[in-house]
Amino acid sequence: MGKTRDEIAKAYHSEPWWYDIRGFFILTFAYNSTIGAQLRFFGPHFGKNHIEIACGTGTLLDLFLRWRRWHKLPQVDITGIDYAESMLAGAMRRFAGNGRVRLRHADAARLPFADATFDTANIANAIHCFPAVDSALLDVFRVLKPGATMAANVLLYPRGPWPLKSIAERINTWGIRKGILYTPYECEDIRRRILAAGFEIIREIRSGNTYNVMARKPVSLG
Ligand SMILES: C[S@@+](CC[C@H](N)C(=O)[O-])C[C@H]1O[C@@H](n2cnc3c(N)ncnc32)[C@H](O)[C@@H]1O
Repeated sequence: MGKTRDEIAKAYHSEPWWYDIRGFFILTFAYNSTIGAQLRFFGPHFGKNHIEIACGTGTLLDLFLRWRRWHKLPQVDITGIDYAESMLAGAMRRFAGNGRVRLRHADAARLPFADATFDTANIANAIHCFPAVDSALLDVFRVLKPGATMAANVLLYPRGPWPLKSIAERINTWGIRKGILYTPYECEDIRRRILAAGFEIIREIRSGNTYNVMARKPVSLG
């Protein structure tokens, strides 16, 4: 049976060095993706008032911001949220002294922000960790301004040749048992859920076991 959000938060309690090494293996062998691909996908996607959903310890967010500085892209105001307090504590240490990054403890499915607050939202490596994915998508939709965009990558059920498929399946089974993965998705399933939340899909790329999707809250909700 799937874990609750509190069991998931507890499962994320680990030493930062182990979290980063483990993340590298999961990214390579379960997602079949790379940090470079994530930087190119999420890095350009920061509007003036941005929300980073499930920011974790902020390791990746920090890399996005470095990537942006390297590409001379504008600095923006960022709100990061995560439900695991141990993860958020790492992000708070990392961004202490950076006045443009605010961090809040929050459930993606119950965001403590007013409707139509943000210009962009990133959900990096996390949708498949949410126990209530439909509620989370609805709440992200709610806090985005009309015309604002959400970028997300979603872990898919593994495909491809042996032994890669089998390695990815084993990592996923371990992740679900531990609680750091709620479920991988079929591409059509998560696509349907994003559309059901009200988004329109403006760009989508399926690569390895990952679905990268850019979706927009329609300007007119009529
Ligand atoms: C694999 S980590 C990704 C962290 C970060 N985005 C990254 O890419 O490095 C998944 C994150 O989702 C968070 N998470 C899981 N369920 C959540 C929920 N319901 N609300 C907010 N964050 C949640 C976990 O605490 C964890 O930090």
